[in-house]
Amino acid sequence: MLEMRGIHKRFGAVVALNDASLSVNEGEILALAGSNGSGKSTMIKVLAGLVAPNSGKIFFDGKEVAIHSGTDSVKEGIATAFQDLSLIPTMSVQDNILLGCEPKKNGFVDEKKARKIVLELLEKFHIDCDPDDYVQTLMPSTQSMLEVAKAVYRKPKILLLDEVTASLHYDEIETLFGIMRELKAEGVSMIYVTHRMNEIFQICDTITIMRSSNTVISGKVSDFSLDDIVYYMTGARPEHSDTVAEKAEDFADRELVVDVKDLAIAPKVKDISMKAYKGEIVGIGGLEGQGQSEVIRAILGAVKPEGGSIDYLGKKTKFKAPADGVKAGIGFISGERNVEAMFPIRPISENIFAGNSAKNRMFKFLTKKEVRKFSQDAVDKYNIKIGKLKDPASSLSGGNQQKLVVARWIAMKPNLLLLDDPTKGVDIHSRQEIHDIIRECAANGMTVIISASDTEELMNISERIYVFYEGKVAAMLAGPEKTQERLVSAMMGINENKKEELAE
Ligand SMILES: Nc1ncnc2c1ncn2[C@@H]1O[C@H](COP(=O)(O)OP(=O)(O)OP(=O)(O)O)[C@@H](O)[C@H]1O
Ligand SMILES: [Mg+2]
Repeated sequence: MLEMRGIHKRFGAVVALNDASLSVNEGEILALAGSNGSGKSTMIKVLAGLVAPNSGKIFFDGKEVAIHSGTDSVKEGIATAFQDLSLIPTMSVQDNILLGCEPKKNGFVDEKKARKIVLELLEKFHIDCDPDDYVQTLMPSTQSMLEVAKAVYRKPKILLLDEVTASLHYDEIETLFGIMRELKAEGVSMIYVTHRMNEIFQICDTITIMRSSNTVISGKVSDFSLDDIVYYMTGARPEHSDTVAEKAEDFADRELVVDVKDLAIAPKVKDISMKAYKGEIVGIGGLEGQGQSEVIRAILGAVKPEGGSIDYLGKKTKFKAPADGVKAGIGFISGERNVEAMFPIRPISENIFAGNSAKNRMFKFLTKKEVRKFSQDAVDKYNIKIGKLKDPASSLSGGNQQKLVVARWIAMKPNLLLLDDPTKGVDIHSRQEIHDIIRECAANGMTVIISASDTEELMNISERIYVFYEGKVAAMLAGPEKTQERLVSAMMGINENKKEELAE
């Protein structure tokens, strides 16, 4: 039904697409997979009319079509949920959803109908907010759901979904998949970009894999194994090294780095106690919004708790602002890089170096050459795909921006590293590399606290996992207790009688 053939796109010296092709049939869900920077979002943007290819053709039902603008794309029945959301933060939920497609009566917006449509969509997507809420006040995951709801409202024949689940949690993904199955039954075609491999097997019929700007293979998902997919993405067979060393659970002789006691932060955090020892990687699991982000930000000094205490290196913390936490050797990486971590219009080199200058105040004594070398080393070590170091950070693909933020903080060698969904949008291969680097740092004495929306990632990286449920610790999983099943059921609040196992 839809076919893209031989698409080329250059951004200056960077070749984003080189002879890329794909096709999708009616009522089919096509997975578009590939490493960070391989060209997935650019393909999506070509279809959405935001990127003009240098050459290549697009066909609809065998007929060539021209997509030169967003309007052309909409005319062909395409709607898009973008990776870097298209919502306008300072506008209300209702205005964002309806933007440009308001229901009309006698030439005026039909307010009553508009309200009804929006309420129905919010209910369908299980989005818990008011139509009049400003988008900027909503959680990142809620914003992602809205981005999809907005696209679905446009009743597309073809729906493009670019990493929409990156900041969604377990329950939200279930809701989304339910809606996708409904649309599929109605004959809607979808192109689905994701780095979460299990989703490909769960929801997609066919797959096209990209590697360095090219589409290297297409076929039925059922004809591929996970190893096959990684192979086509990277050109190498994956090594099987996901055996996490089950370290002894005896912490008696280890230095206690973080000791959170009876923490309360209204409204989400009710009563959280947790510990992290020197050189340990501690996970925080749970569905969206069970207090994970708040606790992490409280340790950093960005959020003020109402009750309880936080000890860091044996002393009560009195951080007034995150900068105090950073001065005390605490690093913080968040998946919300646009809001919390990046300077999009500054060069890549400065973005990598920024953390170090904040800590050491030595930026001004360094030559450009030194900054460049420092940044180039990080680019090499983390495999960040860039054009030039002096390009703005916003020119990087989503996953490469995230790798840049990770590189910056780890380069600061913090004593305690706080990670709030750090590998959001990072491809499976780079994620392994980041995990390896985090493990190496932990082995050298860095303490790590990581919250992740992806349960597999959490299982893989953490030695112990505190599972949050309704603002309390529902379970602490360690050693043989740490299984995917226990994690998921604790996330749903199913396992209440595990409290006695909380390590003291
Ligand atoms: N506006 C732009 N200016 C310069 N370079 C760009 C621009 N947009 C994309 N690129 C480059 O094109 C390449 C492909 O980027 P794209 O965003 O399509 O990757 P992706 O496969 O979506 O990656 P990710 O998984 O990280 O989102 C990258 O090297 C990126 O830096
Ligand atoms: Mg992308």
